[in-house]
Amino acid sequence: MKRRSFAKLLALGAGSQLIGDAETGEAANAEAAEAADPDPAAEVAADLSKAVVIDDYVELSRKKLPRATWEYISTGCEGQVTLHDNIEAFRRIGVLPPILHGVGAADLSTTVLGQKIAMPVMLAPVAGLRMYHPDGALASARAAGAAGTICAVSSSAFHSAEEIGAAGDGPKWFQIYMPKDNGVARALIERVEAAGFKALVVTVDLGERKDADRRNKFGVPKQMLLKHLRDVGHKQLHDGMSQAEIEAFNLGAWRLSMSWDIIDWLRGITRLPLVVKGILGTSDARRAVKEGADAIVVSNHGGRRLDGMPASIDRMRAVADEVSGKTELLLDSGIRRGTDVMKALALGARAVLVGRPQAWSLAAGGEAGVRQMLEYLRQELEMTMISCGCPDVGSINANLLLNQPTVG
Ligand SMILES: Cc1cc2nc3c(=O)[nH]c(=O)nc-3n(C[C@H](O)[C@H](O)[C@H](O)COP(=O)(O)O)c2cc1C
Repeated sequence: MKRRSFAKLLALGAGSQLIGDAETGEAANAEAAEAADPDPAAEVAADLSKAVVIDDYVELSRKKLPRATWEYISTGCEGQVTLHDNIEAFRRIGVLPPILHGVGAADLSTTVLGQKIAMPVMLAPVAGLRMYHPDGALASARAAGAAGTICAVSSSAFHSAEEIGAAGDGPKWFQIYMPKDNGVARALIERVEAAGFKALVVTVDLGERKDADRRNKFGVPKQMLLKHLRDVGHKQLHDGMSQAEIEAFNLGAWRLSMSWDIIDWLRGITRLPLVVKGILGTSDARRAVKEGADAIVVSNHGGRRLDGMPASIDRMRAVADEVSGKTELLLDSGIRRGTDVMKALALGARAVLVGRPQAWSLAAGGEAGVRQMLEYLRQELEMTMISCGCPDVGSINANLLLNQPTVG
């Protein structure tokens, strides 16, 4: 290790003694040299040492990313009412724990689609991970594996199914945006199966038009978009194409309007469990069960799709009352704290997924950042469960909650 980096690490670890030395000379010189030639690993460690809750990654990632990229991650559509309500709705729900319950430890493990996971928190599919950190979905997959949980990967994460399948040893799900070309879709799903993914996530709330992205003229760099489209299976695309040609191809390549027969079509070509992501309505939940969904994600896409949609947590109980026991229920949109996870489970979710927390922590510190973010959620949930007298996830229940969303 370079001497100046070692000095910086020592300074971080040893506190006032070394800070005192720095004031008198040598460490200060080392710091000055470091500023001119920073050591990336030490920088990441220093950044991550400042984060103690998920909201801290918001600022850390803002400093690392171009503004347009950060706003692509962080903003929602139109007036961002749904984006903000996803957070506010969790705050509206109170917790009234029993006292003197004698619980001093909690087992956070559960199963999702038969897969045992160490905690009921998973990574949500997020597009463009490679734009936020060079290791992108590979880092996320490794971090989820290390945390003993599932990584659901977007087909637009900009690493191939094979690259992601080989990253880390944890269970992974593949979220597919459907290519218009059925042959390309079929071949991609075969590759997803061969790469060892355990489930296929079909996102049914499609389309994203955000003011910030239009203002910033946000776009994907040419080489990344080209790699992405070729990874999906459009092998005819080549380096000689212009950015405009590739973007035009991209615009026409996807099925943006789908109907329920897509579930049947997918069922006909894959044996992987099907997870339908993006349901808030009870009749849609019933229909998804009828069509054979193995799991449903109660989700409004993190407020990125249609402003005015209700917060996911406000729909959880209604959906659970309708289809609980007939399919597995998951929830995303607005999870930022361990108490949020507990509230979602109390209202009927088996596990939750996190989108932006993953993107922000990845940008802040790559795999180490995502690992740390997951560990903070684990610790917060564990403390919440102990405070509520819940020795395991099965004992989390709605009687612990005040001001529950009305079912309707
Ligand atoms: C930058 C970004 C990209 C996303 N890309 C996808 C995607 O490719 N496929 C998908 O199903 N959902 C995508 N989502 C939605 C997430 O899977 C998830 O539903 C949402 O982020 C949950 O809300 P949260 O960000 O508050 O956790 C994306 C979300 C973000 C923030």
